[in-house]
Amino acid sequence: MIILLLIDMKIIDGKSIAKEIVSELSQKLSFLPLEERPKVYFIRIGEDPASVSYVNKKSKTASEIGIESHTTILPIETTQDELFTLIDEYNARADIHGILIQAPLPSHISETATFNRVSPEKDVDGFHTINVGKLCQEDSSGFVACTPAGITELLKRSQVDTDGKEVVVLGRSLIVGKPAGLLLLRRASTGNATVTFCHSHSKDLPEITRRADILIAAIGKAHFVTADMIKADAVVIDVGINRISDSSRRSGFRLVGDVDYDAVAPICSKITPVPGGVGPMTVAMLMQNTVKAFEQLKNRD
Ligand code: GUN
Repeated sequence: MIILLLIDMKIIDGKSIAKEIVSELSQKLSFLPLEERPKVYFIRIGEDPASVSYVNKKSKTASEIGIESHTTILPIETTQDELFTLIDEYNARADIHGILIQAPLPSHISETATFNRVSPEKDVDGFHTINVGKLCQEDSSGFVACTPAGITELLKRSQVDTDGKEVVVLGRSLIVGKPAGLLLLRRASTGNATVTFCHSHSKDLPEITRRADILIAAIGKAHFVTADMIKADAVVIDVGINRISDSSRRSGFRLVGDVDYDAVAPICSKITPVPGGVGPMTVAMLMQNTVKAFEQLKNRD
């Protein structure tokens, strides 16, 4: 019984923490009249199965909270100009408060140019240059990318102190690695860490990752982080969502993280599972960003 309790405390349950946030937001919006609710527009291009599933989840959570959502599905051959015309239309509409274009995009469309086309005030993904700049400037009026925001919220709600701790971020993407490191560096109760970024070109990765009090694995490779890369009692945040084939499943695949969970869990003090760790937090933080966009745009009117 005591052992089971200890195992329980070790696992950071993103699913239930995300539920708490969703319920807090739901409560907040319940005071608004039905015709005055936040509205978020999703754009999905093509039929990538992971993107279909993520956008469906975002839309379902929005409706649970009382956020109105709409998904526009475009064919894979949509040109960048056509996409930009649609984004411009959504930017101009006063009734739309948040816009999200699900990545990855087809290779003929520039992701950076697309993220920068969204009005910074409606950029609930937090990928626009202005919002990344505001994160660097520690300006809280900006939007922070949802997965990194979810990671710091998970750490906070799991009582993991980051102040003065060694954080190692494995990965340098715009969506996760870079903003996660910047957030943990900020002068804030969820920051003040000493942050090291490493990536596929870094030399002697295990030597770097073994320094981490908190390791954030966002490299996108199944089971990349092995037990020899972890310091005893480290906190391990696994951002990876990788499909590996599994003939015992009806779908033919299962989801695993960037961390070899079975080997690493016995060594660390806390760990996020996959699924059920960071993933649900990304969706919860998107909802939080949408409510923030709604409030800021209303206050501007
Ligand atoms: N693809 C994977 N993660 C994300 C995300 O947070 N936002 C968008 N737009 N696309 C993604």
